[in-house]
Amino acid sequence: MTRRVAILISGSGSNMAALIDSMTGDHPARPVLVLSSDPAAKGLQRAVGRGVPAEAVDRRAYRDRASFEVAVDAALRREGAEIICLAGFMRILSADFVSRWTGRILNIHPSLLPLYRGLDTHARALAGGDAEAGCTVHEVTAALDDGPILGQARVPVLPGDTANALAARVLEAEHRLYPAVLRRFAAGDRTPVRLP
Ligand code: GRF
Repeated sequence: MTRRVAILISGSGSNMAALIDSMTGDHPARPVLVLSSDPAAKGLQRAVGRGVPAEAVDRRAYRDRASFEVAVDAALRREGAEIICLAGFMRILSADFVSRWTGRILNIHPSLLPLYRGLDTHARALAGGDAEAGCTVHEVTAALDDGPILGQARVPVLPGDTANALAARVLEAEHRLYPAVLRRFAAGDRTPVRLP
């Protein structure tokens, strides 16, 4: 019995592509929908190119977050989504929305949580003089970038790193971590993944 996965994006969708590409063979899940909060997101074309139904729910077309979330929820339910993967989705979901999908929403965040919730994680890791950085997949709860940790991957901070250079290294780790976590999660196992 495969689990039906929806992926929510706002941008380039490289994590989305890694997730889609991983869901083959004996994987316990399959992608059923990609939703973007931005109709111009490059990730929409990447999803279509992979044969996954993709559509935009343009946040700017809705008068408030509640009506936007009603549209997102309707699309997810129409496709029978069972697991929601946030992958560079740049909208904060309300507690109300999250409560309707409790335990079924995952997010990837580009830091070793609980360090650096929010934005500009790489610059903050560099400013902090950290020796390592990384990414976290966690279950989404009503609190921002919080919720049970389902996996982490670490990368070194190298001499002379810029925020962009570090972001690129972390992004590669994201592409390994998120599929590994989703495979385990979809099989009903919430034991945290540790990479490398
Ligand atoms: C990733 O760094 C993710 O961790 C962050 O936004 C970025 C999305 O990149 N939340 P992409 O759209 O998956 O390429």
